[in-house]
Amino acid sequence: MLIAQITDIHLGFEPDNPGEFNRQRFDAILRKLGAMTPLPDMLICTGDLTDKGDVGSYQQLKEALTAAPCETHLCIGNHDERGNFLEVFPDTPTSDGFVHYTVDKGAFVLVVLDTLEPGEHGGAFCKRRAAWLSATLDACSERPVVIALHHPPVRHGIEWMDVEPDAEWVKTLSGVLRNRSNIRAMLAGHVHRPFTTTFENHLLAVTGSSAPQVALELAPIDPSNPDNRPMIVSEEPGYSLHHWTGDDLVTFFQTAGDYPTLARFDASLQPLVQSLVPDA
Ligand SMILES: [Fe+2]
Ligand SMILES: [Fe+2]
Repeated sequence: MLIAQITDIHLGFEPDNPGEFNRQRFDAILRKLGAMTPLPDMLICTGDLTDKGDVGSYQQLKEALTAAPCETHLCIGNHDERGNFLEVFPDTPTSDGFVHYTVDKGAFVLVVLDTLEPGEHGGAFCKRRAAWLSATLDACSERPVVIALHHPPVRHGIEWMDVEPDAEWVKTLSGVLRNRSNIRAMLAGHVHRPFTTTFENHLLAVTGSSAPQVALELAPIDPSNPDNRPMIVSEEPGYSLHHWTGDDLVTFFQTAGDYPTLARFDASLQPLVQSLVPDA
């Protein structure tokens, strides 16, 4: 099973421009997914679906997603707005007013979390969400679980995008996820830069953004001294392909740019392939 992940689409950054740069970038990823063999089995979009959380931008998203080649599941981020999101995507499951839900894929259970706190840039995970997640994970403790959420609950070193040390929401999430051996992976976004790490011993894969990326600048930042460092850069649109191999998830970080093919499987490469791959 192949799971595509797109994150931080930020549609509506240019409010009056339906052909905006972020839409072009998102469309480029969807075209890549639609041209794959095999096609992805599902697509997860992990938040910051829009830039300003307005209804018009969610309608743009809905229209753009008609090009998705597979079922799509949506997660919200700090740039999203629950009410407007649900007005346009009313079939998205909710509980306690939060956009969190599960999708049973047979081989594993996808658990989509809601880490939005209106007005906050960083993540949130309150006791009500923790109670829901705890009960949800208890109910599928014998099944492999993949968790999707917008905010990665870890410090990564790009200081202006980083989690506050000792953030309460991180401790709350830690308390729920600690000692859960059936969690195969956590899939996040928000940082606009791909990386992997662990959280409570679970693999955490953060996908690069569809919208422009955050520059990889690890030098300490002094808010009182604008030092002219790069902050946002326009590398090619990022996405991920997570390959469920039967019991685990393998993550391929991809970009949707054009690039030359330097070698193909033709007669000149056939001896190499035959030496590497057993005959069917
Ligand atoms: Fe974002
Ligand atoms: Fe975000």
